[in-house]
Formats: sequence, structure tokens, C-alpha cells
Amino acid sequence: MDELKQLTALCAKLGAGDGAAGIMAAQLQKRATQFATERGVSREEAMQYLLEILVKGRQGEAPEHITVPRPTPSLREKLLIRFNATFGRSPTVVTRAPGRIEFIGNHTDYNGGTVLGAAIDRGVWVAMVPNETGVRRFGSEQHADIITLSADQVTKQSGPASWVNYPLGVLAAMPEFGLRVPAGFDYLVFSDLPTGAGLSSSAAIELASLLAFLDCTGQQPTRDVVVKIGLHAENNFVGLPCGILDQGVSGFGQKDHLVFIDCRGPEFATVPMPAGAQFWIFNTHTKHALVDGLYAARHRECMEAAHLLGVRQLAEVSPEQFAVATAQLPPVEARRARHIVEEIARVAATVQALHRGDLTAVGAMLTASHRSSQQLFENSTPELDFLVDTLVATPGIHGARLTGGGFGGAVMALTTAQFNAADAAVVATAYAEKFGAALDILHTQTDNGAEVVQSGSTRG
Ligand code: GLA
Repeated sequence: MDELKQLTALCAKLGAGDGAAGIMAAQLQKRATQFATERGVSREEAMQYLLEILVKGRQGEAPEHITVPRPTPSLREKLLIRFNATFGRSPTVVTRAPGRIEFIGNHTDYNGGTVLGAAIDRGVWVAMVPNETGVRRFGSEQHADIITLSADQVTKQSGPASWVNYPLGVLAAMPEFGLRVPAGFDYLVFSDLPTGAGLSSSAAIELASLLAFLDCTGQQPTRDVVVKIGLHAENNFVGLPCGILDQGVSGFGQKDHLVFIDCRGPEFATVPMPAGAQFWIFNTHTKHALVDGLYAARHRECMEAAHLLGVRQLAEVSPEQFAVATAQLPPVEARRARHIVEEIARVAATVQALHRGDLTAVGAMLTASHRSSQQLFENSTPELDFLVDTLVATPGIHGARLTGGGFGGAVMALTTAQFNAADAAVVATAYAEKFGAALDILHTQTDNGAEVVQSGSTRG
């Protein structure tokens, strides 16, 4: 039965006479469409809202007593409304790529090691439509100005326009992988991922942009290639010598799973997350002024340690070999290398504990990883250390560690299902007393990897 017939039958059931039921049903349809546009919600939600009000009203409730919660627009819907308002037409392609938690495996990726991460239910959305003008127009929820570049202007931007370096870096990388790039287009990006929390908004914007560019040029490379293009953009255009973790997890994420990456291949797999475990993120909003330089310095120190040990990458050294060889290294390189070698062993132990469902053992590895960051890799901060100390002394916490590159950012805690917002607030109060600053707290779930949500491609 079509919608109008269904609605007519419903209105008749609610007491409307023969002719009136049909008129009411048609009005409902019209109002639902209007309401969806005005409120930026889906038409389905709008109809549901109107029907609930209608039914309650018919049951004798006075309008002022009808308390149906109004649907709130989703990020996707807000994106579509803004897209229309900015470019005067609808996008043909909509994509989404998640942020990620670094679960364990700190700075192991560019050392050829292993790492575990989780894609989360926050991320970046891109809407786009090709145009015939040959001009690329980039808009972002967070910036009022539209950045307009011709298709041959693929040069690094600075100042307020520098966010465009993520999609531009992807456009610069695509031909290196034998892929065609779209010429002119209108592009808008929205995000609900906190920036500066070490949740990798940069990989998310790279992958969401790339999937949009691929969709509107009708190309479908493998997921491995998608992830590598994101990394290529980050390394060569944005200019950070990072490893494959962020793009790999955003690309290969799976709900209720962790992504396991052997960065030497790289090879990607998933490991089921035992039921009942929860993720909480405590974002300090602190960021070392020299964070990119410090990251690059750690990268250099690791490469130097590998060179002195006579291997290509630190992942080639086992903890036993390292115990013997450590004397060959200066103190700083010895500390950095020990962190990497032991961290890779912790990743392996964590995978085993996950398979056994032993969350206590998993949590102990997470906290041990943080201690190693604190003492050996020296990429923690007093704020992050305080949070880990406070969290591990709190009931319901399996373990806690800094997540991401370090030198500020956020701490991730793996908790039981009993740990709740009130417990998190106690941690925030202790933090505020100590540092005079507020934490942002995020209770997050695992989610699927980057995807095309609406395709404009004519591919079959
Ligand atoms: C950042 C980088 C990743 C990884 C982590 C540290 O998030 O982007 O590639 O090196 O730091 O593990």
C-alpha cells in the first residue's frame, strides 16, 4: 500500500469521515515534507513526529500537554542544508570517515611494528558535486570563507586556508597511484570529531575527501590503496612523517572490533572487542607548542637507534636481542628503542588477552604502555600522567593511557559497563582542582570504517 493510502486509513481509524480522511492524509504528507526541510531532519522522522502529535491529540490530549520531542537534525542533515545554502544545489556524493582511538602500539607504526586501534562513532562528513567550471570550491563548517582554487592550483596553503591541505594533499597523491582526479567541484566538510584530542581528524578528512573524489570519478581502488593515498597525502603534502595507524584504522574500522595493523606489509585485520568493555576519552585540550617538531624528533631518534643496531626498522629487534644490544646505544636512543621494542611485545600480548576475553590483562597492558611513554619515550605530559594516575585508582577502570602521538591531547580509558558519567565527573573535578582547567569527556563506541553514504557514481 502506498503512503497516501496508509495515511488515509489511519486518519479514518482516528475518526475522520470518508472525504476528510483523504484530505487530512494529503495535508500530512505536505506538512511532513515542509517540516523536514525547515528542521533539517529526514522526512521519515518528520512524519513520525507529526503522527505522534496527531494520535495524542485524537486521544484527547490538549495541544499544550502534547510533549513529543522534536527530532533533532543529524550531522548529515545539517551538512545537506548548509550545502544547499552555500552552493545553491544538492550534493551528489556524501561520504563519512571515522576518527580513531589508538588502543595500544604507541609510535610503533613508522618503526614497522604492530598496532591496535578502533574507529569511533565520531568523524568527518564530506558532501560534494562536480561542476563544469573547472574551479574547485572548498567549504568547511568551521570556516566562513569558501576557498576557490583552479584545478591546476595544487599547492600547499597556509593561514586560515591551511585546512584545505588535507583534500588538496589527496588530490596531489591520487595520480601517484594511477588515479584520475575530478576537475571542478563544490565541496563541503562537517565534523563532530573533537580536534586536538589525538583522535585523528586529519586522517578522517583525508579519507572522507578521497572517497568523494573517487566516487565522482567512478573509480574503486582497493581499501589498501585508499589508506595508502591518505598516508601519502599526510607524509608528502601536509608534511608529517607519521605511520599508517590513523588512515589504516579509519579505513578498516569495524563496529565492535579493533583494527590490528602489521605496519610492515602493511596488513590489516580485525580483532573482536570483548562484550561489556567501554571507551572513555578525557581530552585535556593541551598541546605542546612544538608537537609536530617533537613527533619528527622521536621519528629521527628511532631511525638513528635502528641504524646503530644495524637493522632497517626497530620492529626487527626482539626484546631479548634488545637486552643484549642496548649497550651499543646512547641513553636517549636506548630509551626510545626500548619503548618501541617492548610496546610491540605488549601489542602481541594484548591481542592474546583480547582473544581470551581477559580485560584485566588488556587493561594492565594499556597502563604499562602509558608508563613506558612517560618514562622511556617521554611523550607524555603532567596532565596526561595525572589523568592516568587518577583513572587507574578509580573503580571500574581496566586501564588507561595517552592515545595518539602524545605531547598533550587525550587519555583513553578502557572501563567496565558500570563506569558512568558521575564517575567521569569525579575525575574531571580532580583535574580541575589540580590544573584549573576543564576536561572534555567523550563516551564513545567503536564504529565502521570510511564509507560512501550517498553515491553519485553511475557505476553499476
Ligand atoms: C600519531 C600518528 C600515528 C602514530 C601515532 C603514535 O597519531 O599520526 O601515525 O605514529 O601518532 O602512535
